[in-house]
Amino acid sequence: MENGSVWFRDDVLTLPSYVPGKKGLDPDTIKLASNETPFPTLPQIQAVISAAAGDLNRYPDMGATDLISAIAQFHEWPDSGIVVGNGSTALIEKILQAVVTPGSEVVIPWRSFEAYPIAIQAAGGIAVKVPLTPDGRHDLRAMAQAITQNTRAVMLCSPNNPTGPALTHSEVAAFLNEVPTTIPVVLDEAYIDFVEMEDPVNSPVLLRDHDNLIALRTFSKAYGLAGLRCGYGLTSAPMASGLRAIATPFGVNALAQAAACAALRSQPQVRAQVETIKEERSKLFAALAAQGWQVPESQANFVWFGFGERSLEFEELGAAEGITVRRYGDDGVRVSIAEPRGSLRLLRALENFRSSQKYQS
Ligand SMILES: Cc1ncc(COP(=O)(O)O)c(C=O)c1O
Repeated sequence: MENGSVWFRDDVLTLPSYVPGKKGLDPDTIKLASNETPFPTLPQIQAVISAAAGDLNRYPDMGATDLISAIAQFHEWPDSGIVVGNGSTALIEKILQAVVTPGSEVVIPWRSFEAYPIAIQAAGGIAVKVPLTPDGRHDLRAMAQAITQNTRAVMLCSPNNPTGPALTHSEVAAFLNEVPTTIPVVLDEAYIDFVEMEDPVNSPVLLRDHDNLIALRTFSKAYGLAGLRCGYGLTSAPMASGLRAIATPFGVNALAQAAACAALRSQPQVRAQVETIKEERSKLFAALAAQGWQVPESQANFVWFGFGERSLEFEELGAAEGITVRRYGDDGVRVSIAEPRGSLRLLRALENFRSSQKYQS
């Protein structure tokens, strides 16, 4: 039984695989493939993790009560409307497991976070992929039109991974008014901390009017705790209670709970790091414009290059300059915005790409 085909359901056997960002092959290579923060774990968070490391013979607090209280305080949102998970990816999986019925549909923007179609198919559903607009934005009108009797959920990703643009508050508010209240809307805000725009989404305000909305956040990006796996959702009490029922028991480990609480207490340092990335983003976008590149306006810590069939060539030129980028087949390449050295290498790779023979052909 070489591939386990007798054991697994067909929909499991045909799942697309999640492609993790490649690690640098040598220590000098800068990994710009997974949208991680370039900053090492803050010392006060490391101290909390070390202090908790002696008690790992015990199970963690199953209700993650301290963490949920800290999140509640931070967002001024009731504890009863907060769920936590082993990364926001686990929450995406759980929500879909809880609402998708066999053969039902989930409307998603595409391209977007590649975990969505995998989680939808694993839950027995069908992903209805609504193409982004040419500038990498959600086509909300088309998404609303894609909702049918068979729709069990809708996903929004703002800022959108991998293209970067964010939705406005008014856009999401108008969209929510078009979605029947019987259909959960998942608003994935993994990169919300990097948003700097007019009319940014304020999800707690939207949540007050829409019990079917769940806004997902993560400690993996701005808070720099990708290695610990912790995310959360803000939603209505009935939605949270349904999700708690299906949660993996003790799904958020003790170190992650302690570290996430410490991260929430470290707002000044976290916000300063986010500002540094945003400044790097402004500089990089100015340099890209000076080189003549047209890219979607990113509100996140990454930039998208729709290089199509030349994506592999660019990935290789990036590797030659000492950066690992994230290639999406023959669609394009996403590059994280991190340390200035990384941006310089990116700009050099882009210059080489432009002057390369293949690019001109
Ligand atoms: C849009 C989006 N949502 C969710 C996640 C997952 O984050 P976590 O590390 O919390 O599972 C990512 C990670 O890349 C992402 O890009």
